[in-house]
Amino acid sequence: MDLKGRDFLTLKDFSPEEILYLVELAADLKKKKKAGIPVDTLRGRNVALIFEKTSTRTRCSFEVAAHDLGMGCTYLDPKSSQIGKKESIADTARVLCTMFDGIEYRGYGQEIVEELAKYSDVPVWNGLTNEYHPTQMLADLLTIREQFGDHKGKKLAYLGDARYNTGNSLMILCTKMGMHFAAGAPKKYHPDPALVAACDEYARVSGGSILITEDAAEAVKDADIIYTDVWVSMGEPDEIWEERIRDLSPYKVTKELMGKAKESAIFLHCLPAFHDLKTSTAKEKGEQYGITEMEVTDEVFEGSQSRVFEEAGNRMHTIKAVMAATLGFSTI
Ligand code: CP
Ligand code: NVA
Repeated sequence: MDLKGRDFLTLKDFSPEEILYLVELAADLKKKKKAGIPVDTLRGRNVALIFEKTSTRTRCSFEVAAHDLGMGCTYLDPKSSQIGKKESIADTARVLCTMFDGIEYRGYGQEIVEELAKYSDVPVWNGLTNEYHPTQMLADLLTIREQFGDHKGKKLAYLGDARYNTGNSLMILCTKMGMHFAAGAPKKYHPDPALVAACDEYARVSGGSILITEDAAEAVKDADIIYTDVWVSMGEPDEIWEERIRDLSPYKVTKELMGKAKESAIFLHCLPAFHDLKTSTAKEKGEQYGITEMEVTDEVFEGSQSRVFEEAGNRMHTIKAVMAATLGFSTI
C-alpha cells in the first residue's frame, strides 16, 4: 500500500483497503509504542499544525505523533498567524511547503483545506472542518476493531446533529467499511441528500446500509455502537443553543436508550462532551437553560459500556499512521 504524497482531506478520497491499511498501521504503531520500540524514521522532517478552531485531542495527537516519529512541529494558533487576515490560504500554502514536509489544518469550510492542498506540494491533513472529521474516524474504527475484533456487519447508531462533521464522516466510514449506519435526528438535522446518495453507493459495494430516521429508538435498535457528539459545534452562534436543546433532547443518549441496543453495545463520543456541569460552558448553559447534561447522561458517559477514553487515546496512534503513511516512512 503506497500512500506517499497523498492528502488526507476526507475519507471519500480513500478506498476501504486504504482505510483499513491506515488503521492496521496505527494498531502496529500502538503496539510498538507500548513495547517501547521507537519508530522515528522521519527524523529531520517538520510539520505545521494550523488550528483556526481550538483543540485538545487533535493538536496533542499531531504533536506527540510528530515527536514520536522524530519530526519537529510548529503550532499556529487561531490568532497569532497571518492566515486569512493578511495572507490568503493559497499564499500561506506556498510559503509553508517551502519549510514543512506536511501541513495539518483545522478550521471552517472544507473548501479551505481543499485550497490549502491545491497550493501545497506536501501532504495536507484535515484536522476537522465543518463538513468532515476524517482523522477522528480512524480512531473510531480502531476502537471498534479493538472491542469487537472486526468491524464488518456492525451497526453504528449516531444520535444528534447528523449533518455536521462527525455525523457525515461516520456515515462515510460505515458505508465504505461494510457497516450499518443509522442516524437518529429530527428531519432538519438529517445529512445532505447528495452525501447520502454517495454513501448509498459505497454501501451497495461494501454490503453496508444506511437508515436515517426521526425515531431514536429505531436508530439504536440492535446497535453495536451508540455514538453522539455535541449539539452545538465549534464556530456555531450562541443564539442556537436554545433551539438545539429543544430539538435534540429526545436524542440524548440515556441508559434507557442504551438498553435498546445490543447488550454488548459500546458508547463512543469524539469528545469534548457535555455530560455534567464541571466546565465553565456547561455551568453557564446549565444555569441558563436549567439542564445538567446535553447529548449524553453522566451515567452513560461514566458507565461500563463507555469507551470514550480508549477512543481518545487512539487519536494519537491513528494520526501517527496518517502522517507516517503519507510522508512515506520506513520501518527500517
Ligand atoms: N475529538 C476531537 O477532535 O477533539 P479536539 O477538539 O479536542 O481535538
Ligand atoms: N462537531 C464537533 C466535533 C468536535 C470534535 C465540533 O465541530 O465542534
